[in-house]
Amino acid sequence: MTSIRALEFFSGIGGLHFGFNASGANGQVLESFDMNQQANDTYKLSFGKSPISRGIDRLMVKDIEKYNANCWLMSPPCQPYTRGGKLLDDQDNRAKPLLHLLDQLEKMKTPPQYLFLENVKNFETSRSRHRLVTLLHNMGYVFRECLLAPYNFGIPNDRLRYFLMARLRSSFDISSSATSTTQDKTDPKPVKFDPETEIIYTSWPLPAFVEDPQKSHQQHTFDIPELQKFMDENEKDGKDYHLSRQLILERPNFRFDILQPSSTRSACFTKAYGSHHVAGGGSLLQTQKMDQQEYDYSNSESIADLGLRFLTPTEVARIHVFPLDEKHGSHDHFESTTDNIESGSSSEHSSGDSLTTVRPFNPRLAQGPEGPFLRFPDKLKALQRYKLLGNSLNVWVVAELLRGVLFADHPGTPRLEYQLADDSDNESNTEKSAAGSSNNVESSNGGKHDITKSEEGVSDKTQDDPQKDESAREAKRARVD
Ligand SMILES: C[S@@+](CC[C@H](N)C(=O)[O-])C[C@H]1O[C@@H](n2cnc3c(N)ncnc32)[C@H](O)[C@@H]1O
Repeated sequence: MTSIRALEFFSGIGGLHFGFNASGANGQVLESFDMNQQANDTYKLSFGKSPISRGIDRLMVKDIEKYNANCWLMSPPCQPYTRGGKLLDDQDNRAKPLLHLLDQLEKMKTPPQYLFLENVKNFETSRSRHRLVTLLHNMGYVFRECLLAPYNFGIPNDRLRYFLMARLRSSFDISSSATSTTQDKTDPKPVKFDPETEIIYTSWPLPAFVEDPQKSHQQHTFDIPELQKFMDENEKDGKDYHLSRQLILERPNFRFDILQPSSTRSACFTKAYGSHHVAGGGSLLQTQKMDQQEYDYSNSESIADLGLRFLTPTEVARIHVFPLDEKHGSHDHFESTTDNIESGSSSEHSSGDSLTTVRPFNPRLAQGPEGPFLRFPDKLKALQRYKLLGNSLNVWVVAELLRGVLFADHPGTPRLEYQLADDSDNESNTEKSAAGSSNNVESSNGGKHDITKSEEGVSDKTQDDPQKDESAREAKRARVD
């Protein structure tokens, strides 16, 4: 079975690597590249291997080809596409490493079969994106683009991001089925490619690569868990994160985004979160006077008594669904995946013709019992941790886009239901593992991330005629296989 051999560019603290692991795809991240020392120290502690710290803008084709990788994961700097970064786009020096990588991509003898890119909202209207998608189209890639936030996947957080998933057309067995928006299947003459007319999807799930991109997909609605499921249980853990009365009183009319533990939303945590100078870039948690749910910002005194605090870096990491080594952590609040399956909440989306599967958010699926886990070096202070987390991404969102779209028909990618391999009380699960149906993803430090795939297609509880269901699935498999 061909495995995915991925390179991770702009690796930061490894959000893409964790997302790759959590997708359950068959393969591994071979190498990562970043030049931020604190990020690299964190990465090394988490994965046991340091990223290459040489500037990405200095990598040449031969430096990349030597890995014989078939997948590129990229999350380039976002400042060129933000107002704070002056929206200089491809004229910003910080866009250079991405543009340089694209130049190298064009020269590769064997370009990667799979490509994944994450960036901020606004990238979709940039010249950099124009260059990216035009190049991909000319090189024979088909791609899907979307603007999605964690709440689209059932996570109480707003972090709207641009994602692109691209795949070489020649890698499809039935290449004529792999479509981009501008291709009309009934017309043999290729339509002139226009990046402006490509669809940017804004709901989840998306059409799979072999589906007509114009086909409308109904947004899946998830039950979004309350924030308290992500909170440190011990209130002492948050004590250093309280805002002083003085800081609040100094800021009349400053509209802090205030959350209660029962909230099912939170604002985007930026790299400025936690800074007492800014007191912005993310939500604050109310810990006192819980009956007060309306806030008079012109009366700072009334806000000052609410016991407002920042979420701790660990809490932010949980919301970003980073795997953490917690003996009794927030994961205990989430059902075991077996419960999910039995309640039928993990289902193939739409009753027939979508190839994309939707799985309910469950952080227990984003990590293996042995790690790798996100580990910050002790020397990194809270502000440095917030900064690294603010630069990072949501692991679950990446995992779902990889699993459900980019690698959807790659041999070994789990499609329908999931059970944790360490749910040892589930006998049939253990049997399946023993029979070799477990999908072991080797991480770069040799740790195993075990996701045991339940028998594909059998346990979709949303439909009631098993025989009919099975033939429908066979038909669908025939379209991709
Ligand atoms: C948006 S962050 C990516 C964060 C990452 N996805 C994560 O999970 O933490 C962009 C990263 O690009 C790195 N970077 C920027 N310019 C670079 C260059 N020329 N060479 C290598 N890395 C670079 C930064 O250090 C930063 O970690």
